[in-house]
Amino acid sequence: MSTTPKDDVKLSPMVRRRTAKDISDRKGKMPVVSLTAYITPMAARLDEVCDFLLVGDSVGMVLYGMDNTLGVTLEMMISHGRAVMRGAKKALVVIDMPFGTYEESKEQAFRNAARVLRETGAGAVKLEGGKEMAGTVKFLVDRGIPVLGHVGLMPQSVHKYGGYGAHGRTIDEWQPIIDDAAAIANAGAFATVLEGVTEPLANKITAEVSNVIIGIGASNECDGQILVTEDMLGLFSFNPKFVKRYAEIGSDIAGAVEAYAEEVRDRKFPGDAQTYKMKGHNA
Ligand code: KIV
Repeated sequence: MSTTPKDDVKLSPMVRRRTAKDISDRKGKMPVVSLTAYITPMAARLDEVCDFLLVGDSVGMVLYGMDNTLGVTLEMMISHGRAVMRGAKKALVVIDMPFGTYEESKEQAFRNAARVLRETGAGAVKLEGGKEMAGTVKFLVDRGIPVLGHVGLMPQSVHKYGGYGAHGRTIDEWQPIIDDAAAIANAGAFATVLEGVTEPLANKITAEVSNVIIGIGASNECDGQILVTEDMLGLFSFNPKFVKRYAEIGSDIAGAVEAYAEEVRDRKFPGDAQTYKMKGHNA
């Protein structure tokens, strides 16, 4: 039996969570800040600064060690979506629709997207695809499901493209990507992730398309940016050109684990501060 998030999502009446409409109103204004989140404590930390958090299907690669995102299931997304909703109280939370859960028909997409929103309490879903998915995006939006599009490099199509290389390196590659972005905007997506395209193409799409364009490996002229949090924190070994590392958490962890191991071997941990004493003895 499916459960609803009613009990774990307690929002103070004073805190209004951002909505898809708040994001779509930012076209041409202050850049939208977004990052991925998969777990409660990370979501709580990102919540203060991010306009929206994406529970990306990158969770499969980042947390589960998968080679690509194709093995991620709806159940995984719902479980991580609920965890993120427990940590984030202000940011809009958007949940990725995993491969195979929305492409077959508009009805399949609606059924699964509705389940995701119902069981997580999140405010929007993301799905990959251009012109071929525009009808589905419109179907969902018309029925009350806010959609974040995703065009350009689409990781769920890795087998079609044969890798994760940048798109739009020659002018003759541009028009289909522009048409994809326009189709998803016209279908009513409140924003679209534009991934892995050359800078001038990203600038043209941002200038010409009506909805908010969120860049990743695109351009700083996009209406906002997103990165995979573990990439920018140096916690995940994947390090493409478009990732800037703002921290080296991976080496911090290695250092902490080495210090712990040394103290265990030297019988310095646990120390007095970490051990329970009998009553009446010095604490
Ligand atoms: O799955 C994901 O994390 C994404 C972002 C990289 C945009 O789609």
